[in-house]
Amino acid sequence: MKWPKRALYIFLLGAAAAFASAAEEPSGIQSPDGRTGFSLELDGSGIPRYAVTFDGETIIRPSRLGLRFALHVSLERDLEVVARVDKTNDTTWQQPWGERRVVRDHYNEALWELRSTRGPDRVLRLRVRVHDDGIGFRYEVPEQEAYGSVDIVDELTEFFLPDDAHAWWIPGRAWNRYEHVYQSTPIDAIALAHTPMTLQLPGGTHISLHEAALVDYAGYTLDQRRPGVFKTNLAPRSDGMRVRTKTPFVTPWRTIQVSPDAAGLLNSSLVLNLNDANVLGDVSWVEPGKYVGIWWAMHLNEKTWGSGTKHGATTDNTRRHIDFAAQHGFDGVLVEGWNTGWDGDWFNNGAIFSFTESYPDFDIEAVADYGRQRGVRLVGHHETSGHISNYEEQMEDAFDLYESLGVRQVKTGYVADGGGIQRVDENGVMQYEWHDSQIVVNHFEHVLKEAARRRISINTHEPVKDTGLRRTYPNWISREGARGQEYNAAWAKPNPVEHNATLVYTRMLSGPMDFTPGIFDLLHQGPRSEFRVQSTLMHQLALYVVFYSPIQMAADLPENYSKYSDAFQFIVDVPTDWEESDALLGEVGKFVVFARSERGGDDWYLGAITDEVAREFEVPLSFLADDRRYEATIYRDGEDANWQTRPFDYVIERRIVDRNQILELALAAGGGAAIRFRPVTKAE
Ligand code: NOJ
Ligand code: CA
Repeated sequence: MKWPKRALYIFLLGAAAAFASAAEEPSGIQSPDGRTGFSLELDGSGIPRYAVTFDGETIIRPSRLGLRFALHVSLERDLEVVARVDKTNDTTWQQPWGERRVVRDHYNEALWELRSTRGPDRVLRLRVRVHDDGIGFRYEVPEQEAYGSVDIVDELTEFFLPDDAHAWWIPGRAWNRYEHVYQSTPIDAIALAHTPMTLQLPGGTHISLHEAALVDYAGYTLDQRRPGVFKTNLAPRSDGMRVRTKTPFVTPWRTIQVSPDAAGLLNSSLVLNLNDANVLGDVSWVEPGKYVGIWWAMHLNEKTWGSGTKHGATTDNTRRHIDFAAQHGFDGVLVEGWNTGWDGDWFNNGAIFSFTESYPDFDIEAVADYGRQRGVRLVGHHETSGHISNYEEQMEDAFDLYESLGVRQVKTGYVADGGGIQRVDENGVMQYEWHDSQIVVNHFEHVLKEAARRRISINTHEPVKDTGLRRTYPNWISREGARGQEYNAAWAKPNPVEHNATLVYTRMLSGPMDFTPGIFDLLHQGPRSEFRVQSTLMHQLALYVVFYSPIQMAADLPENYSKYSDAFQFIVDVPTDWEESDALLGEVGKFVVFARSERGGDDWYLGAITDEVAREFEVPLSFLADDRRYEATIYRDGEDANWQTRPFDYVIERRIVDRNQILELALAAGGGAAIRFRPVTKAE
């Protein structure tokens, strides 16, 4: 069918929309506060480019847009703008769980329609939303004669950054997936970078490049093709295409978060706002909370996932952990290594994992039952070693089993080198995929749907990057996707001191992380070993506030908590679900101070961490309610604390405070502070 150009446009967008013809339309759109501007231009060859300004400063120079297909003429040149529809939105929505309950979604939107000027008649739409905290834009390719099924071989979207921008980044499409130490360099040092990538511009503006709503598409890395020009490089499929799809389709949103300072990036809901609303309906079964587990002992080589005398997942050991969890009010006990398939080289043996058969020394019914009596749920574990076909074959039975045992959360794992996800194709041939290729993106969505049918939430390790899909699927409760605490065990070079203060401004911008904080035995390999946790004890406490996740692990061995039971009390008290969150102060890779208020309660919590530099802050307590006084229980580094020499030097003190006071905080090198504020009286 061939539609007349204008008729099609009016039909699709509705006569009521504000309609501007190409001749009279402006080429730009601004954020509600007028500080951020997006403009679209086409050159003499009909090549579309966009640019972005913030407070009058160009933050994205003219950058190309477009899509290139395998067998069809591309959507990249010989285009003209034929129409534009504008819209303004100012609504709020509620998160079932989250870093804040109420989210405001306030933006100006332009939907541009571009049409071909030569060759077959083609339509490309560009939807742009400009919020006060940044921009999202995506391509929408409607159903049309020129395209039915299409294979995308390249997306041409660029981000042409200003000279002298400084970046915090990890390599894109690297062997160790997303688990790398962050680099802090001028942008010219980058070849291929993962997103989110964080940048500071010479004038102080901070931006973060990422994507939202990655569904049935490939994740992208930032590919510096010419100086300053970062092109979207979509993860390829094993068949060589980037994306196989058919019209109508939309791409994920390409996002540019913008803030005048570093802390502002942390208070943005841009990525969530660009995702679709919850499709699961009632999700009261998605349970935020805290857990302990049979986990760290394996990373210390004290226990094994596989069978034998050091097997961690025994019935007795699980009971012991359930007792500990019950005693301290934890919700769950994670048990890794309970199922057969771990013996030998489990990293390379993904095909032999069973997800229903327990080792003989683990009685899954008995431990689930024991937990039920004590008010503690088992937290399930499915390590796939990246063999998604083996997992998909067993998935329904595996989730059925867990559902029958009252399990509400399953941690999944995809330990495999980048590009090493294994998939047996329809001809029985093994194919190798990237963790963020279209096929694996679709696998993760399939897992979420199967889990949701059984009221199970998923915590993915070695995941695809987070693009805010927790809004659409609130059972995607957390994920890893960065160098977490596990690197501070015995098998790798530990995370450097500044790592956590960098993660906050990079990985954490994408969503919750199962970092697994709370290692108390900081010197577990002996005081002189470099394999230790590079922080003070108080820094470990602060991470429960600083790193947002609705599920948080108390990651250390239960016996290590009894040595510092007064400090452990903070982990017992801290909630994981928040009414509000506010990053108060910060610099990328250096420090952050976060305040969060408990959802369903009146307490406030504060967490602060620093890198290797000791720092002092004056923190106005104006976030506290104005009609109350609070007892602040302050967990802080002692006067001589230092992550290297005195990591266990700490002080716990109590003070009555109110919102008119300014709190002086001193953090040691590699240190931190954690504070619980409990209302005690109405203010006089
Ligand atoms: C890597 C995960 O990040 C870790 O938490 C887990 O213990 C191992 N894989 C085994 O599944
Ligand atoms: Ca991992």
